[in-house]
Amino acid sequence: MSDIASLNQIEKELEQLSNSAYETIQNIDDDKELENLRISLLGKKGKLSSILKNMGKLNNTQRPLIGQKANILKSNLLEKINSRKEELINNALEIKIANEKIDITIPSVGNPTGNKHPLISTQDEIVDIFCGLGYTVENGPEIESDFYNFESLNIPENHPARDMQDTFYLKDNFLLRTHTSPVQIRFLENNPPPVRIIAPGRVYRRDAVDATHSPVFNQVEVLCIDEGINFSHLRGTVLTFLKTFFGDLPVRFRASYFPFTEPSAEVDVKWKGKWLEVMGCGMVDPMVLDKLGIDSEKWTGFAAGLGVERFCMVRHQIDDIRKFYTNDLRFLEQF
Ligand code: DAH
Repeated sequence: MSDIASLNQIEKELEQLSNSAYETIQNIDDDKELENLRISLLGKKGKLSSILKNMGKLNNTQRPLIGQKANILKSNLLEKINSRKEELINNALEIKIANEKIDITIPSVGNPTGNKHPLISTQDEIVDIFCGLGYTVENGPEIESDFYNFESLNIPENHPARDMQDTFYLKDNFLLRTHTSPVQIRFLENNPPPVRIIAPGRVYRRDAVDATHSPVFNQVEVLCIDEGINFSHLRGTVLTFLKTFFGDLPVRFRASYFPFTEPSAEVDVKWKGKWLEVMGCGMVDPMVLDKLGIDSEKWTGFAAGLGVERFCMVRHQIDDIRKFYTNDLRFLEQF
């Protein structure tokens, strides 16, 4: 073959290589395949090398021409391969981003909202009724001294009433209060009559747990002191309160005994055909007032105490006090 024919032949082969390679590169979708292609085109034993093997047939002016063309072709192909590689990486990234995109227009599944514990809503309801009757809410400490929990309420040491209210004793004559009645004393120490307060709060007893007993439970204390207060005021207040809370359940007052009231009564409501005790109450014992320096000839009053759990159990037909404290959502979600 003449050298001019060889030149034409090589040039033609280079052109063919160039044409087919461009299309092949563009159609490859895989990184590895692209690398294999690069080797098969431009590697030592690749197509370009095999075309250039015939350069020996060229003369000295033709050879550099082909050399130059081959170099340009080589760098163009490399560039094309690399830009395809980049394209593949970008495509993959775009797909990934599209898949991970957060669609802020999708409706939310919502956060579950909590609701009030039945004991809290019962207590709120009791408090609301008394607030409507002109009472304000007071609080006292749950860690109480023997003095406020017992002594000041006419329950001296060795008084049998202490047996019913055994509690958890702490150091230095402190204890966990067994009732909310000490708030009466604390309030009267700092606030002269007339007084109309209620004191809701947690109280403690050394009781074994069963369906109706818990070592921790909740009470609401009621105290009203004014001039001329008598038992009919107590009765009227308690009846109004119970009627507002329970509706028209039958109510009865039963004579009873509390060391800090005289006379004293327990109040029952008739529920499911049985009388059920719901409150203790009475006229504040003049001795309690006198010890506070309050003139019991001028000021008289009544007090009452109730257990929130009992009210809640009757209201919602709950048969076991333990359900309030075990936090079983199947129970709590019903309220
Ligand atoms: N503190 C009493 C108890 O826990 C309840 C009570 C009875 C409170 C009569 C009173 C009351 O204020 O007058 O058993």
